[in-house]
Formats: sequence, C-alpha cells, structure tokens
Amino acid sequence: MHPQLTSASSSTSSPSDRRLSALVRHLTGSSPEIDSQSILSASPTSGFHGDSVFSHIVRAPEDPILGVTVAYNKDPSPVKLNLGVGAYRTEEGKPLVLNVVRKAEQMLVNDRSRVKEYLPIVGLAEFNKLSAKLILGAESPAIRENRVTTVQCLSGTGSLRVGAEFLAKHYHQRTIYIPHPTWGNHPKVFTLAGLSVKTYRYYNPVTRGLNFQGLLEDLGSAPSGAIVLLHACAHNPTGVDPTFQQWEQIRQLMRSKCLLPFFDSAYQGFASGSLDADAQSVRMFVADGGECLVAQSYAKNMGLYGERVGALSIVCRAADVASKVESQLKLVIRPMYSNPPIHGASIVAIILKDRNMYNEWTIELKEMADRIISMRQQLFDALRARGTPGDWSHIIKQIGMFTFTGLNKEQVAFMTKEYHIYMTSDGRISMAGLSLKTVPQLADAIHAAVTRVV
Ligand SMILES: Cc1ncc(COP(=O)(O)O)c(C=O)c1O
Repeated sequence: MHPQLTSASSSTSSPSDRRLSALVRHLTGSSPEIDSQSILSASPTSGFHGDSVFSHIVRAPEDPILGVTVAYNKDPSPVKLNLGVGAYRTEEGKPLVLNVVRKAEQMLVNDRSRVKEYLPIVGLAEFNKLSAKLILGAESPAIRENRVTTVQCLSGTGSLRVGAEFLAKHYHQRTIYIPHPTWGNHPKVFTLAGLSVKTYRYYNPVTRGLNFQGLLEDLGSAPSGAIVLLHACAHNPTGVDPTFQQWEQIRQLMRSKCLLPFFDSAYQGFASGSLDADAQSVRMFVADGGECLVAQSYAKNMGLYGERVGALSIVCRAADVASKVESQLKLVIRPMYSNPPIHGASIVAIILKDRNMYNEWTIELKEMADRIISMRQQLFDALRARGTPGDWSHIIKQIGMFTFTGLNKEQVAFMTKEYHIYMTSDGRISMAGLSLKTVPQLADAIHAAVTRVV
C-alpha cells in the first residue's frame, strides 16, 4: 500500500483520515470487517459520501439570451414562438443546413485520403488564407504584402477571446470601448481576457437609430491608443449600422486618435445579402494602411453554428510584425485549446476555394438575407394594418438578424405570458425566427402590448 495512505491510520490522524484509511484497506482486501457506517457518515469537508465539496456553490443565473430558449422549451403551448435565439429558421420554422454545406460534407466523406490528424495550432492554412480574402477582399494590398496574420478560432466568440487575450498580453492599452448596447457576451469575453471594458454611446432610443453625435463624443474623449470594438455590420442587438459617410467619419476620428479597431464580423452577407457590401466598414479601415483586428464567424452566413468555425485576422503595418504577432498568437492558443477542430474549417475551405460552390453559397446566403428583409416588411405592414400606435418604420430601417423593437421589459413579459412569444427582455426579436404564418401572431401581440401595457 502507498505509504501516505497507510500513515492515515496512525493514532494522530483525524477521524476522516481514519475512515478513508479503512476504506482503502477494505478496497485492497487488507481489512474484511470495515465499518461501512463510518464511511457513510463522513464529515462534510471530506467530500466523500458526505456533503459535496462544492455544496457552497451558488446557482448561476441562466445566460440572458440562451435562457430564453430554456424558458421556451418548458412552455407546453402549441403556438409558442421563439424569437430570442439568433439562428436562422426556414419559412416552416425549421433550422437550415445549406445545400452547399451538405455537398461539401459529402465531398469530405467521399475523400478517403482525408485523415483526422491534429491541425496546427493556428488551424487549417487554406481556410485561414481564404477567410482573410473573404473579409478583406481578394485584391487587398494588406494580403498581397503579407501584412495579415490569420488564425482559425472557435467561431466568432473564440476569435474575440483569442484577440482579446493577445491584446491584454502585448498591447500597451488595456481599455476596450464597446458600444452601448452590444451583444451580451462582449463585456464578459473582454473582461475575462484581462481587458478593462468601457462603453461608448451608440443607440438613440428616441429615434431608434444611431446616436452618432454621442458616439463621436465618446470616442473623441477616449484615451489615445484605446481599443474600440466595432460591429462590422448588422449591429446586434439594435440592427442599426452607421452609413458609409458616418463610417468614414468614425475612421478619421479613430485614426487621428490612434484608437485600435477590433471588428466583430458575425454577419457578413447576412445583413444586405452581399458579402462585399457587408465587409465595407472593415475594408475602409484596412485601405488606409493602418492596423486592426477582425473576428469572423461562419455561424450565421454558412449556418455552421455548432461547428464553431471562425477566424481572427490581425492586420499589421509590416510583414515581419505580422509574422511575430502570429508566433505570439500560438502561445495564446496552445494552452487554451491546443488547436482548433478540422471538420467545419474543411467545409468552409471547400466552399470558398471552388468558384461554383462559392457562387452557390452566395445564392443561398442571399435567399436567407432576403427572407429576413421580407419579414421586416411583413411585420411593418401588419402593424400599420392594425393601427398600432407608434412609428414602426425602424423595423424596415434596421438591418440584419435582429429588430430592436423598443418594447419595454413589462411589454415583453406580457407578450410571453399572453401570446407565448419569447424574446430577450430588452425587446430584441430575431427576424430570422419569423414566418408568413407567425407574423400576424406577433403583430397581434405587439398591438396588445403597446395598447394595454404602459
Ligand atoms: C455580435 C456578435 N458577435 C459574435 C457572435 C458570436 O457568435 P459565434 O461564436 O456563434 O460565432 C454573435 C452571435 O450571436 C454576435 O451576435
């Protein structure tokens, strides 16, 4: 027997040590007449048949976004409607796997030369190259001059986290400014990565549009060098994006103050239906020769949610800097998850490198974006037809997956209770979860909420 275990039976050992020792002797056959009662009544701190050593742990609240689905799943109503989760649904309310994705998967399965070896720390080289091209543009001088380093990460969230940890370790400014409001996970990702989070004004609840003046003032008073998180397009949760001219003003201000842009591109192609148009903000910042970070996700635009495919690109001023940056990104990734998964990245690489498959993807992507845009029009028309009080034009002005309705917490709770419609308490609804069949139900619920709940 191990000396440390036998020593527990000495006269100086504690009762719990003696019980543990008795059990060990029993299990190893050295004591046939073990007192099982003494084991079952082990003290709480022993963690062995007594209370758990984790019994002091307080139950954490549900994630505010994913918690909506938890509540929805518990509702037995046949007419329940989940507009909380940011995932595309078909007109029939079903999740969608793109045809082009199915094709790519079939090709992967049929190719017997493919193996399941580990990828390098930075992921699939071909995927990284194609991802940089997709977001920065095929003709990007930054790519041509080898000033970009791209690493495959675990979808958009993982790309943000790796980028943030890299900045916390190597960048001289640890403050990141995020828009208010923003995707609920942003503050947590950046804080846990070691950055200090501040907000800049973004949304004007009166106009239900951009608070451009507030944005310029807040970024204008940020300390030189601060990091600024920008939603590349289809801002979540507001659906409000700056115009091209406003982006240009933001760029000039940020460059004049040496603020470092960190783009979150979770919806490229999903906002307008055009991959190029939705990358315009990022490309403007890269075109001026300055530096920036971009986190890309293929969750929405290729429907690869659960495959966790994404990329982090860091655009630098010089090729030798980019290569040193990559060497340090490896040191961030290796102890975090060693290397990324191979399957999803292989699907994306197959689609991006083949002209026909790429074209097929853009058609399917546009169909998704167009369906969402048509849902906006349908909902707007339905509210107008009901004479619902208020100006609902923001529904058709906002862009991307979400509409920030302007409904308050009480109105949201009312709609859930009376109409079984689920959404986040800030009044955000996923337009991708709506269909021709469910628009009237939502319009009725909104009408009742604004006329009956103040
Ligand atoms: C703005 C924004 N960023 C990042 C993400 C991350 O998504 P994922 O990690 O699934 O790619 C999301 C997902 O909803 C998002 O809305």
